[in-house]
Amino acid sequence: MAILDVIRQRRSIRHFLDRPVEREKIMMCLEAARLAPSTCNSQPWKFVVVDDEQLKNKLCRAAFSGIYLMNSFCKRAPVIVVVVSEKSKFLTMIGGLFRGTQYYLLDIGIAGEHFVLQAEELGLGTCWIGWFNERAVKSILNIPKDKKIDILIALGYYDTSRKRSAHSREPMDKIASFNSY
Ligand SMILES: Cc1cc2nc3c(=O)[nH]c(=O)nc-3n(C[C@H](O)[C@H](O)[C@H](O)COP(=O)(O)O)c2cc1C
Repeated sequence: MAILDVIRQRRSIRHFLDRPVEREKIMMCLEAARLAPSTCNSQPWKFVVVDDEQLKNKLCRAAFSGIYLMNSFCKRAPVIVVVVSEKSKFLTMIGGLFRGTQYYLLDIGIAGEHFVLQAEELGLGTCWIGWFNERAVKSILNIPKDKKIDILIALGYYDTSRKRSAHSREPMDKIASFNSY
């Protein structure tokens, strides 16, 4: 599929099929993420893939309870990918302080979207998840307390025949211009 077709097809998926995802396909998504560009080639990420059903259920119960309940649909996703934000290179951190830019967030965003688009191309649905109990995720997956987890990705097969709503996006003339703001 052409990349623009994959992008046009992708939606956030919140209804998953009860079907496991092959490790081979997960590895392809991880490879797409691994090859993402990053500031000073810092690669400030580690992807912890949770595809063991019991562990995933335990994780979802803890991560999406209380004020995070709105994301409890994730328990129906067969895979949860935890994106651990790792330290950037020294130069990136200094540059980031100077510029007032958290480059690592751009980096994990790009890597995550590589993952998501590769998944879509393989017929897999995803949903970015930014609202979750970070402390619970760390505790269940033995992730050191001093690490930061900014984002999770829910992954799984979905009903591709289901009608997709149109993308709700700003018109082109509002978001882009040539040669002047
Ligand atoms: C960084 C980020 C965090 C998000 N967090 C959540 C979330 O916690 N729960 C959720 O259901 N969707 C979440 N989303 C999905 C957005 O709501 C969704 O991308 C947006 O509404 C556009 O819809 P679409 O992805 O179907 O095009 C998140 C998306 C991004 C990029």
